[in-house]
Amino acid sequence: MRIDKFLSNHGIGSRKDVKALIKKKQVTVNDIVIKKSDMHIDENVDVVKVNDQVIKHQPFVYIMLHKPQGVVSATEDRDQTVIDLIQGYEHYDLHPVGRLDKNTEGLLILTNDGQFTHNVLSPKKHVDKTYIATIDGIVTDKTIEQFKVGVTLDDGYETMPAMLKILSTGETTSQIEIIIQEGKFHQIKRMFIAVGMKVTYLKRTHMGQLALDPSLALGEYRLLTDEELKLVTQNSTS
Ligand code: URA
Repeated sequence: MRIDKFLSNHGIGSRKDVKALIKKKQVTVNDIVIKKSDMHIDENVDVVKVNDQVIKHQPFVYIMLHKPQGVVSATEDRDQTVIDLIQGYEHYDLHPVGRLDKNTEGLLILTNDGQFTHNVLSPKKHVDKTYIATIDGIVTDKTIEQFKVGVTLDDGYETMPAMLKILSTGETTSQIEIIIQEGKFHQIKRMFIAVGMKVTYLKRTHMGQLALDPSLALGEYRLLTDEELKLVTQNSTS
């Protein structure tokens, strides 16, 4: 891999930033100051340092994105995708860990680690996904009971139990929190349709115990820490 690609992939800066660092003699490979940003290294063997700090090779990246509405959760599409929002990780072959609908916002993880994605998405692994939503309709204790046993969707699919909490109710609308462990197409919207109501706003706030970072504005993203990564596969309910 080229040294400039390696360094920018590991969060050191853009290719331009990296070039400047190399020019300032701040980058070494096996303790030899390097001069060319197109130099090739073997990232599994060579020891790369920036200002004497070793840059450890990380084959996998995990990015937390605050997904805005209007962006598609896919790697390619006619419309703007979540991948298009991420800059500096072009060589990682990222994919979104599951999908949020185009008009759903909130926590989305992007990675190149397929096993991690499988672990998070498989309903057998029971990872909680928590959302807040605005509902056109009055959610009651009866709705909570219906969701607790699962509801039947328009195609006959019986959902797994979902935990529903009423945050507030207005004259004709309700603010709710819902925790589901599966991710069927338009699942939450279809669950509310099944009980005669409509979701008008949907935001994912948590995956497992990992919360969306409140300092990330819509469209912003950052790398997950190792500690945060562990939280994704931990639940409060199990
Ligand atoms: N359920 C939905 O209906 N939409 C989403 O984006 C996520 C869960």
